[in-house]
Amino acid sequence: MMPVRPNIAAIHAYKTPWAMLDRMEYLRLDLNENTQDLPECALERMVQFIRETGVGCYPDYRVANRQLASYCGVPAECLLVTNGSDQGIDIVLRAFLAPGDEMVIARPEFAMFGNSAALLDAKVVGVPYGEQFCFPYETFHEAVTPETRLIVIINPNNPTGTPVSLEYIEWFLLRFPNVPILVDEAYYEYTGISALGLLQKYDNVILLRTFSKAFAMAGLRLGYILARPGLITEFEKIRGPFAVNGVALAAAIAQVEHPEGMRAHVDEIMNRSKPFMRSFFEANGISFIEGAANFFLVSVPNVERMVDHLRSHKILVRTLHGPRLDGWIRMGLGSLQEMQRVSAAMLDL
Ligand SMILES: Cc1ncc(COP(=O)(O)O)c(C=O)c1O
Repeated sequence: MMPVRPNIAAIHAYKTPWAMLDRMEYLRLDLNENTQDLPECALERMVQFIRETGVGCYPDYRVANRQLASYCGVPAECLLVTNGSDQGIDIVLRAFLAPGDEMVIARPEFAMFGNSAALLDAKVVGVPYGEQFCFPYETFHEAVTPETRLIVIINPNNPTGTPVSLEYIEWFLLRFPNVPILVDEAYYEYTGISALGLLQKYDNVILLRTFSKAFAMAGLRLGYILARPGLITEFEKIRGPFAVNGVALAAAIAQVEHPEGMRAHVDEIMNRSKPFMRSFFEANGISFIEGAANFFLVSVPNVERMVDHLRSHKILVRTLHGPRLDGWIRMGLGSLQEMQRVSAAMLDL
């Protein structure tokens, strides 16, 4: 084989542990997806788009840009659609990190940050989360040095679920005005908490969001970056002209015009499924960390046995690996009925 660059050869490709399974046969609580169907309005709009516009021409982003910007309450020039927020991560890191440059992030973090940094041969300075995976408020800023070219705050983080206060993010923006600070808000619709208001005041804040989670569109690959217009122009050079497909945009436009479906889902997850599982874990002495989004961390005496047992009940959850994560399962939240099924299966072990 022709040798590729050594830093690329050293990376382990992201693979789900269920690569050999047909995930569609399972209740999928392993990747923080929305277990519910896409709202009907989005389905209809995709069909209409394919019938009327077709897929023979390259996509045009102008309408989607306006509509998504209006959903966010920002001018269209502040938004760039991306191929999932994975691509948003890659674009922002590529914009700021040259080989050897430092990126500061709390650890353990969402895997794609390390992956994109490794592709660039950049250095990741990981600041450990505290007890119970609390954000390291006391030590995070100490990791920022003159070599730091990017600071990442994932709010809330995956896999730990850890939220970060907006006051702290603002303090950070003020304290390091010459360093770009990327705030990943993949779970924004669940938390309702966003640093977007800070975009007017600070030009070093950049936000990432996605349609993969609350909007149930993980398979369509649509995310977006929010930043000052000058930065968006630079990010667009990296993204290229046609990275996002028109069908995904049609579905997204329908959903932001009719957000009732997404809101009903968020309401069920946060106000029914989550309290139900919290009570279930407490009542049965199961250790858990709740986090701020649509998933829990759960610790049981024999993780592999529990994961296999749930799998035999056609339920997928994620075993976590790595420093601090061994011994934890990440369990996404589905509808109340789905979580009743999960709790019954857990008791049946
Ligand atoms: C914190 C965080 N950021 C980004 C992503 C990537 O999402 P996507 O590429 O599907 O938009 C995820 C997915 O799990 C995530 O948890």
